[in-house]
Parts: sequence; C-alpha cells; structure tokens
Amino acid sequence: MQKILVTGNGPLHGEVLISGAKNAVLPILCATLLTDEPVTLRNVPNLHDVKTTKKVLEGLGATVSYDPERFGSGPDSEVTVNASTVNSHVAPYELVKTMRASVLVLGPVLARYGQAEVSLPGGCAIGSRPVDLHIKAMQSLGADVTVEHGFIKAKTRGDRLKGAHHTFEIVSVGATENALMAAVLAEGTTVLDNSAMEPEIVDLADCLIAMGANIFGHGTPRIEIHGVERLHAATHDVVADRIECGTFLVATAMSRGSITTVNSRPETMDAVLDKLREAGAEVTVDGDRIHLDMRGKRPKAVDITTAPHPAFPTDMQAQFMALNCIAEGAGVIRENIFENRFMHVSELQRLGADIRVDGHTAFVRGVEQLSGAPVMATDLRASASLILAGLVADGDTLVDRIYHLDRGYENIEAKLSGLGATIRRVD
Ligand code: EPZ
Repeated sequence: MQKILVTGNGPLHGEVLISGAKNAVLPILCATLLTDEPVTLRNVPNLHDVKTTKKVLEGLGATVSYDPERFGSGPDSEVTVNASTVNSHVAPYELVKTMRASVLVLGPVLARYGQAEVSLPGGCAIGSRPVDLHIKAMQSLGADVTVEHGFIKAKTRGDRLKGAHHTFEIVSVGATENALMAAVLAEGTTVLDNSAMEPEIVDLADCLIAMGANIFGHGTPRIEIHGVERLHAATHDVVADRIECGTFLVATAMSRGSITTVNSRPETMDAVLDKLREAGAEVTVDGDRIHLDMRGKRPKAVDITTAPHPAFPTDMQAQFMALNCIAEGAGVIRENIFENRFMHVSELQRLGADIRVDGHTAFVRGVEQLSGAPVMATDLRASASLILAGLVADGDTLVDRIYHLDRGYENIEAKLSGLGATIRRVD
C-alpha cells in the first residue's frame, strides 16, 4: 500500500495550476446521460472518483472516451460521453458503495428512461449521509419511489416526470443537483426552493443550458426550470476546483511562503480568501490568478463555522484546523454540515497539536512547532490536512491510506514539489 512521505522544509513558493473541480465534474458526467448526443467535457481532473464515475456510466451502457495522453493535463484534458448506447437503468452496489456521488445518476436516468434503480450508498467516514432529500425531490416530480433490498427504485407514472414546486427541508448539494437534472426533461415548470448555491451547481446548470436546458436562478436559493422534450450535444469547460486551490493557499500560509494559483476562480472563494486575510496573509486577485504572500509572518489563528455556500465550506475545515495548529493564539472550529468530520483531530494530535473537541466544536491552540510522525488518513480532506501539517512539521511525516487523497487531489505531491516541498510517494 502506497504512503506519502513529507518532510518539513520551509516556505512554499512559485506557481501552481489548479485542476477542474471534482465536485462539479462528477454530477456533470452524470448529466451527460440526459441526451443521446455526445457531450465533451474539458478541464477534467484525473481523479479516482472520475474513473469510478466512468465505470458507472459504462455499466449503464454509455460510451466514455478520452485521450490518455492528455487526461489530467489541465484545460486540455477532455472526456466525451455518448449515452446513445445506454441499455440499463441500474447502478450497482459494487460501484455505488465505493463512491456515494454515484447516486447522482438517479435523476438523469429516471428523467431519460422513466425508471431507475440505484443502490443506496450507505454511510461514510464523515457522517451517515442519508439520501432521503433526493428521494423526496423525485417524488415531488411525480415518480413512485421505493427502497427495497438496498436499492432506490424509481418509476415515472406517465412517460415523463411532471414539473412541480419543491422545497428542500435542508440545503443539500447532491439533492439539488439530482432534482435539477431530473427537472430539465420534466413536463412543465419546476421551482426548487431552499436550493444549494455552490459554484459546482452553477457549473452543472451552465453545462445543462449548453445542452439546451431552460434554467434560471442557479446560484440562488430558488431555481426555476422549464422542462424540454430533449437535450443535445455540447462542449463544456469544468470549473476550477476551489477546494484544491484553497488547500494550496493554506499550505503556503502555514509555510510562510508566497505562491500564485493559475486557472483558479477567485470569485467562488470569498469566504476562504477572507479567512486567509484574517490569518495575516496578503491575498490579491488578478483574473484567474490568486497571489498569496505570507513571507516572514506566522499565521494568526482564526475561528471557523462551516455552512452552505456562500458561507465557509466544510471541505476546507480540516485544512484550516491544520493552520490553527501552528498559528499564533487559539481558534474555534464549528462543523455544522457533517456530524463526524473531526477524524483528523487525533492524527494531528499525534504530530503534537493542541486540540480539544466538544461535540461539533474544536478548540485549537497553536504550538510553535509540530513534530513529524506516522499518521493515518481517514477521509479526503482529513488526508489533505495531514499533508499540510507534515509540510511544516519537524522531520518526517508518513501518511498512510492515501487512497483517500487520490479521490480528490490530482498529482498533489508533484504539484507541491513544484512549489518546493519535500514530498514523495513511498511503497
Ligand atoms: C457534497 O456532498 C460534496 N460532494 C461534499 O464534498 C461536500 O462536503 C458537501 O456537498 C457539502 O458541501 C460532492 O459534491 C460529490 P449534502 P453531498 O447533500 O451532496 C444531509 C469532498 O470532500 N443530507 O449537501 O453528499 C447530509 O447528511 C466531499 O469533496 C440529508 O440529511 O452533501 C449532510 O449533513 C465530502 N439527506 C447535509 O445534508 C439527504 O438526502 C449536507 O449534505 C442529503 C443530505
């Protein structure tokens, strides 16, 4: 099993190219099932989760093609999906259990084929993560939905879903995406209230509009969709990954360095950039570039409260906890989205961090220096926080279970080495 060895080695500096967003490309790949014409996506990151989604689409009978030479090379990384060969409406347990985002085929398959059977994803390290909100949205659009033998079984009553007014009980990124994809082919108008507003949802809507959908209000709590008979071919550039970008910026702030991120989308990252400024970083934006300068300054601890966009993203919580571990003063971190997203705490404590947890709140007092040690990743963003802590710790940090990292970070050790870090994969 591969591990990553990181050795603390001073400030990061230079430029880093930001990849396409995992949390945009996964739903967008599922959306390609809504048409029988080819859809080409560019800026597709070479991630484990992208490969799993490819298997899910191929399992349904779609054809997924890409040039391995260019796959994962940034803006030129292209994937084309042709769903005209789809011959199944079942997403099997074997695949769904490895990646819960597979549940995002529910809406497209139901809307396009009138029935869908999708394995229940089950729980995950960061929380129970039910899918009741997805099911309720499909029922609002006129589907009969049952859960049997570990599967969500959904069927339209007529040959199409029916437009409706649906209000989400709580803000959910995935349920908003599933309902949006289902509604674009429904008969009549759908209004989705209390929708999630994440930039990845806006990117999904932009891709659907390029495919011929009528969508208004995406990026606000109220999304309105006028259903159409069919969608057509399109080409779409996947939005930059604001979480990958934020991860590199926090790493640089922790190491007291200075970097520029390229092909990033600063306008999707206000809450994160504000917290970096609060920590003492000089942050300037110039088009798709973000410059961060922390040279000669120790970060100041910041308080964090996670909430749906545009508030502070839960996917950056672990990285800012790592920053607080070596910062001046103390910071309070409140995790409001997932009930079990402090699994990185005990591993950071192994590196000498001073953290006390009380329910959904963590109190972090900064220490002068962390000390390297073997640690274990427990989920995607937790693994990033351990890498960041290792970059500023004294000596070696050996991170185990890095398959979590590969799910959401493309070539992270190559990118960090390019910024001057001492980091490599070891068997
Ligand atoms: C998406 O997950 C992201 N994943 C997550 O990123 C991210 O943390 C999360 O949104 C919040 O921003 C992808 O986009 C693939 P939710 P999702 O539905 O859609 C509860 C990462 O690190 N809920 O917004 O699953 C749920 O349990 C990952 O890249 C229900 O109760 O998140 C949670 O407490 C991790 N019932 C809250 O809502 C439902 O039917 C928000 O979850 C659905 C969700």
